Amino acid sequence: SGHKTFTMLKPDAVEKGHIGAILNQITASGFKITAMKLTQMTTADAETFYAIHKERPFFGELVEYMTRGPIVAAVLEKENAVEDFRTLIGATNPEDAAEGTIRKKYAASIGENAVHGSDSDENAEIEAAFHFAGREMF
Ligand code: CMP
Repeated sequence: SGHKTFTMLKPDAVEKGHIGAILNQITASGFKITAMKLTQMTTADAETFYAIHKERPFFGELVEYMTRGPIVAAVLEKENAVEDFRTLIGATNPEDAAEGTIRKKYAASIGENAVHGSDSDENAEIEAAFHFAGREMF
């Protein structure tokens, strides 16, 4: 399968000073960073990015959380990137995440779960294009 995934280090991870540790674990696990920036999503950005969740009871909370401070957005490359990155980050709920995964180490709750990983090759392309211009991806 594909070589590319998209990630965000979410506001809670940035607030707690975990950018360096998380990026280190990502690169030490064989992912190459091919685009990256510190940015902050607007309410409209978050509503668009998470449109698939708009009927969920946690949608308002999710938009508030994802817009409350800066995030690190990045594109990552590795063989089997989407699946391998989801293994590295662990389950959505940190209580269910495997020992050593990024969410197990850095996430506070199912809502504030430190990191995003694309769930398919198609969504990786859509999400990367949402955050980056072509000339920002290497
Ligand atoms: P992620 O899987 O990256 O994208 C959807 C996000 O919605 C998820 O991370 C969490 O941040 C959030 N989320 C998912 N389930 C819940 C929930 N039950 N309560 C609050 N937030 C949630």
